[in-house]
Amino acid sequence: MIRLTNVSKTYGNGPTAIAALKNIDLHVPRGSIHGVIGLSGAGKSTLIRCVNLLERPTTGSVVVDGQELTTLSAAELNQARHQIGMIFQHFNLLASRTVFANIALPLELMGMDKVEIRDRVMPLLDLTGLEDKADKYPAELSGGQKQRVAIARALASRPKVLLCDEATSALDPQTTGSILELLQDINRKLGLTILLITHEMEVVKTICHRVGLISAGELVEEADVGDFFTAPRTRLGREFLNDFLELEPPKALVERLEEAAGEHTHPVVRLAFTGDAVSTPLVSRLARECGVDVSILQAKVESIQDRTLGLMIAELIGTPDKTREALAYLESHDLHVEVLGHVQRDA
Ligand SMILES: Nc1ncnc2c1ncn2[C@@H]1O[C@H](COP(=O)(O)OP(=O)(O)OP(=O)(O)O)[C@@H](O)[C@H]1O
Ligand SMILES: [Mg+2]
Repeated sequence: MIRLTNVSKTYGNGPTAIAALKNIDLHVPRGSIHGVIGLSGAGKSTLIRCVNLLERPTTGSVVVDGQELTTLSAAELNQARHQIGMIFQHFNLLASRTVFANIALPLELMGMDKVEIRDRVMPLLDLTGLEDKADKYPAELSGGQKQRVAIARALASRPKVLLCDEATSALDPQTTGSILELLQDINRKLGLTILLITHEMEVVKTICHRVGLISAGELVEEADVGDFFTAPRTRLGREFLNDFLELEPPKALVERLEEAAGEHTHPVVRLAFTGDAVSTPLVSRLARECGVDVSILQAKVESIQDRTLGLMIAELIGTPDKTREALAYLESHDLHVEVLGHVQRDA
């Protein structure tokens, strides 16, 4: 539904030019919810604004619903944008218009008559839970309610795609949850394709099917959400995950970690397991079958959508041969094993 090919965006030129996006390839299939996560300044907003050409890419192709947007005339682009709704962190409502009139605005601009507009707006008020707010002004609404108005307005032209630029970043966790639920509901009911950018793993975890990680203008990693939370492939991905899970080995241990294994060291591992492995008594089996003791430093079980994810940081205590055997045993049981380093055995 959305396909960016080799998209780059440079702000300014000469020595002060900023390469905000570099050779981005991104595909968002019809009906999916796709997240892009990254640190501040990574290029997230630039990326999402390139999808509806609020920012024009310096090079590359932007195809939405089969239509190349970069070569359209102004009038054609205006038409194509009816297919692409957008919501923002700070809602961008018109303070002087009521809820009803805010939602109606894009339809007025399309030249729709009053009766038709009413027929469009009333069901949107229902869909977004604003039945009793039609005549209120934005100043009379909570943040969550304002974002609901923005969502209803974005849906008014019956778009196929919804772009969300940090749509929940100004909201408290509970309100965030209710807005994400609404987005999920819309995705399911209307089959709307959603591209959202965020710096919050919680958002990705809650509603995204796939996620991309952007760093300094480059998409450095892309994965199904379950895979990303089990085994991110990049260092930045692991940092996001560890921050989110608050799962870091104790500092005192990190300082003792050595990269190479030695005759008198034992490995410290990060284990991630899903599915059957979660309910298997692996720790006692390691002791019984491999002769290795497991000292658990941190452990956590998380629900990632329909999957259960177990995470553990542990020291494997045994001779080098035995711990090697134990690592092989873990890997053969579908666990994702990352050796964080090695610590000297206590004398
Ligand atoms: N209009 C602009 N003119 C010049 N530079 C810009 C412009 N917009 C963004 N940039 C620069 O491009 C880079 C990417 O910015 P962008 O706003 O896309 O990041 P972001 O990931 O959305 O950050 P945040 O999480 O803080 O919103 C930054 O270095 C930023 O300073
Ligand atoms: Mg931004």
